[in-house]
Amino acid sequence: MQEDRKMRIAAPIDIGPLDTEAQQAVRDLAAAAEAHDGVAPLSEQPLLNLGTDAEWITHVVAHTTSGSTIGYVQIDRSGETASAELVVHPDHRRNGRGRVLLRTAERDATLPSRSGEPGQHGKQLRVWAHGDLEPARGFARALGLRPVRELLFLARPLDAAALRAPEPPAGYRLRTFRPGPDDDAWLRVNARAFAAHPEQGRMTLDDLRARQAEPWFDPEGFFLLVPEDAPDADPAAFLWTKVDPSGPDGAREGETDGAIDGEIYVLGVDPDHQGRGLGRLLTGVGLAHLARAATRAVLYVEGDNAPALATYERAGFARAAVHVQYARA
Ligand SMILES: CC(C)(COP(=O)(O)OP(=O)(O)OC[C@H]1O[C@@H](n2cnc3c(N)ncnc32)[C@H](O)[C@@H]1OP(=O)(O)O)[C@@H](O)C(=O)NCCC(=O)NCCS
Repeated sequence: MQEDRKMRIAAPIDIGPLDTEAQQAVRDLAAAAEAHDGVAPLSEQPLLNLGTDAEWITHVVAHTTSGSTIGYVQIDRSGETASAELVVHPDHRRNGRGRVLLRTAERDATLPSRSGEPGQHGKQLRVWAHGDLEPARGFARALGLRPVRELLFLARPLDAAALRAPEPPAGYRLRTFRPGPDDDAWLRVNARAFAAHPEQGRMTLDDLRARQAEPWFDPEGFFLLVPEDAPDADPAAFLWTKVDPSGPDGAREGETDGAIDGEIYVLGVDPDHQGRGLGRLLTGVGLAHLARAATRAVLYVEGDNAPALATYERAGFARAAVHVQYARA
């Protein structure tokens, strides 16, 4: 009771859409946490969502009585579980803000659905700890949360001279993505390839267009592998790369001095074409492409995706960091 009173005074919170100024305050907060922790606390999708006022997104901001933004949590209820990303300013930690923000997020996620729509409230909350640093572990322990999902960040050095793009096998042709004409076919193959993935498989046309509008988007680094005998059919597989030296997301974590990271951003093979070495081929294509601009190749992969992990380990990748999703036991 006493603790609750203290927290109400210590952490006024606002729930609702963010205007431009509030969005910038959250970006500044995330940058301060990244400078302090060495890992960005908010990943790409929540940053893209800062200006979003969708039914399934909730923004919660904690501030001081004078109005400075010192904590933020974003809850995304569009998936089967609700996903949250949470950050407290390094100068304001161990003062109960994290606890208040997490409780607010849990209430938002788990409240029985009012609309009756699937994809809304009434869901388990899962909160990301990027880098899974000690404060996040201690915080999770204190709040009775346990790890439920691991996302691995893998890296390998790139040497332009040593890398040549492998040729596609007979029956397939490699070409680059055409923004617009290829959008729908790519969304279909992405949904099939990532049918079991909690986020990637749900990408919408709006999500794709938002990425196409980002300064890092480069169709020359987005490859489609198409069946040679059916040029109008959906792609059999695809590889999307991303080079963003100034990027605010986790792509630069663990970066060694002077290294430029190039990311194997998404690699997907249609289930009808799996088991033919296309993942391995596209990994090689990606490495050769990235080696032109980057000195280190990086990627994210689910900790329980054994086939993908094996492909990447064979291609020389090793674990550089881990991101953990926590949920209530
Ligand atoms: C994790 C984080 C959100 C905690 O925010 P916070 O405002 O400091 O958390 P609280 O003050 O509400 O802490 C609640 C309890 O968590 C535990 N805890 C918090 N930070 C801890 C730390 N550095 N080491 C050990 N335990 C810690 C403590 O038991 C604490 O209670 P106490 O201070 O009374 O002992 C903050 O450190 C942060 O922003 N980290 C970077 C982003 C991140 O990792 N987010 C994911 C969280 S799962």
